[in-house]
Amino acid sequence: MKHLLFVSSLVSLALAIWPKPVEISVGQTVLWIAEDVTVNWAGANASDVRSTYLNPSRSQSYLSEIYNSFLTIFLQSYERKRGDDEESETPSGDDMVDYALKNTWNTIFKHNFVPWKFHPRGWEEPDAGDATYISNIDLTLLKDDPDDVAKPLAGEVDESYTLSLTEDGVVSISANSSVGLVRGLSSFTQLFFEHSQGGAYTTLAPVAIFDEPKFKHRGLNLDVSRNWFSVKDIKRTIDAAAYNKLNRFHLHITDSQSWPLEIPALPDLASKGAYRPDLTYSPAQFKEIQYHAAVQGVEMVTEIDMPGHTSSIWFAYPELIAAFNQQPDWDTWAAEPPSGTLKLNSSKVSDFLDTLFDDLLPRVYPYSAYFHTGGDEVNKNAYKLDDTVRSSDPAVLQPLMQKFIDRNHDQVRALGLTPIVWEEMLLDWNLTLGNDVIVQSWQSDQAVATIVEKGHKVLAGNYNYWYLDCGKGQWLNFDPSVAAQYWPFNDYCAPFHNWRLVYSYDPLTGVPKDKQHLVLGGEAHMWAEQTDPINVDRMVWPRAAAAAEVLWSGAKDENGKNRSQIDAAPRLSEMRERLVAKGIGAEPIQMSFCTMNGTQCALGIK
Ligand SMILES: *[C@@H]1O[C@H](CO)[C@@H](O)[C@H](O)[C@H]1NC(C)=O
Ligand SMILES: *[C@@H]1O[C@H](CO)[C@@H](O)[C@H](O)[C@H]1NC(C)=O
Ligand SMILES: *[C@@H]1O[C@H](CO)[C@@H](O)[C@H](O)[C@H]1NC(C)=O
Ligand SMILES: *[C@@H]1O[C@H](CO)[C@@H](O)[C@H](O)[C@H]1NC(C)=O
Ligand SMILES: *[C@@H]1O[C@H](CO)[C@@H](O)[C@H](O)[C@H]1NC(C)=O
Ligand SMILES: *[C@@H]1O[C@H](CO)[C@@H](O)[C@H](O)[C@H]1NC(C)=O
Repeated sequence: MKHLLFVSSLVSLALAIWPKPVEISVGQTVLWIAEDVTVNWAGANASDVRSTYLNPSRSQSYLSEIYNSFLTIFLQSYERKRGDDEESETPSGDDMVDYALKNTWNTIFKHNFVPWKFHPRGWEEPDAGDATYISNIDLTLLKDDPDDVAKPLAGEVDESYTLSLTEDGVVSISANSSVGLVRGLSSFTQLFFEHSQGGAYTTLAPVAIFDEPKFKHRGLNLDVSRNWFSVKDIKRTIDAAAYNKLNRFHLHITDSQSWPLEIPALPDLASKGAYRPDLTYSPAQFKEIQYHAAVQGVEMVTEIDMPGHTSSIWFAYPELIAAFNQQPDWDTWAAEPPSGTLKLNSSKVSDFLDTLFDDLLPRVYPYSAYFHTGGDEVNKNAYKLDDTVRSSDPAVLQPLMQKFIDRNHDQVRALGLTPIVWEEMLLDWNLTLGNDVIVQSWQSDQAVATIVEKGHKVLAGNYNYWYLDCGKGQWLNFDPSVAAQYWPFNDYCAPFHNWRLVYSYDPLTGVPKDKQHLVLGGEAHMWAEQTDPINVDRMVWPRAAAAAEVLWSGAKDENGKNRSQIDAAPRLSEMRERLVAKGIGAEPIQMSFCTMNGTQCALGIK
């Protein structure tokens, strides 16, 4: 499809949609949208058409008018859902579309922005007189949703959509799944701007989009152990991830520093292991977070990292942990203080994990196909202090680690989930992993290539590009006697990964064509040693949005070339404004002088 955009002083400089659609054509006709625009929503069977208003408060009264005619259909589908599983609170496809419609109304009418930053000085907003309004929004679900629409394995849900907006104001979005409709509605909101005198309009009609993601697993990982985050902070982060069409939210929910996750069968874990007994996630809150993600087409992946990164278990169960908090030479025993690792040859540890998984995994199951069992940065020295092993010899440790992983993964599978592990389990410990296991890579492009060579599915996320914590400098304090040797106190993964560096990462680097299908996608990672609720928004956004475009659109453009920052920057700046309007404290990436005329802050244009 051709790009029909003409840059003039009237139209936006940006092509509006982030991440970039596969095919998009836009015009330059101004259309307005009213809050009570009608939505017609057709299920896979044409007889299922429902009509409502975009405005949720009007749709209530509208629905009561037509209550009787739709009551029957509603009850039938309700029965169908209830019939599957009495206890399941898994959101249905209908729940997702309902939520997305409310979100669409909110985004366009309550959390929009006046786009002066994307126009030169002297820009005039479109005139509201004589306005043509969008008449209706038609949603069409082309196929029945798969059963696991809210908790699929990678690739089980087709997220593609087509969006068309005609010059006379008819909107049609169709998709092969409810998640595709959700993605289409996200793109739809990005066509509209707030008018300073009230109302919302687009300058881009007619619009035709066909879109689908390049990668199946597009994730953001948030560490909520190193620092405490409230449910509200986590939900806000999920909202921003969803708006960038990410479809996985990896919650690194425990680590050596704190254990905030309440496990009713093991109540001391959180009451003693959290930073404070009240800084925990109750089962109700844990469910709330997972539902909040799932209803937006974002599947949560919960990680309990082990056997390393578990020292916080010591506060409740000291007998399970070896090498706890060795000081001052903690770096002999662990990557970070406090040192400590689950003992590797202890039946008490097995019993503990049995109880832990039996409690937790059934609470994950309604919302996810996956459970992450960790496995990074295991320090072999620590097992010298493990009274069940007393050795750091890999030949002694390796079979014990294999047993440990086999036990864990058997139980994960028995409870209906698919395991994910960090790359070290495969690459450093040479473990035999099931074919179902996804290996999460972080150390190098070579690691990704090696994992697929071994036939495993992989998640990319090279720390040199996609670790969002990097470049803040050290968080350790150095004694004056050694300070000089650490000056200027850079961290191990400096420099700061500016969005351009994030954007330059290709998850497929070094992976041969015939193995690329094994690269399911990747994740950007927000490790929280120096991040807490105060700065999390600006640490993550809009840099994770740069990763989101790589994962949705691919690192290469339609000609197989690296994507252009000159094309991306105005769109990313616009996404940043949209995030800010939604209450997410995303950083600016350029000064307004640059965004007001996208060509003036560039180098190397020929
Ligand atoms: C649509 O109709 C077909 C055939 O009558 C039926 O099998 C299917 O379950 C229906 N789908 C929905 C979503 O009602
Ligand atoms: C839906 O599925 C069909 C066939 O499987 C495919 O051709 C199409 O691109 C998909 N997406 C949309 C939005 O129609
Ligand atoms: C593991 O524990 C068992 C039972 O206590 C013991 O017999 C065995 O020697 C231990 N293995 C290692 C490698 O220490
Ligand atoms: C895994 O294999 C490598 C290469 O053969 C070896 O250096 C390493 O010690 C092995 N790791 C373990 C834990 O056995
Ligand atoms: C494309 O990007 C990759 C990864 O950043 C880089 O190694 C390569 O040199 C770039 N290619 C060109 C032609 O600039
Ligand atoms: C944008 O900048 C370019 C290059 O400086 C200039 O030629 C053009 O007139 C500017 N456009 C506007 C609308 O100011």
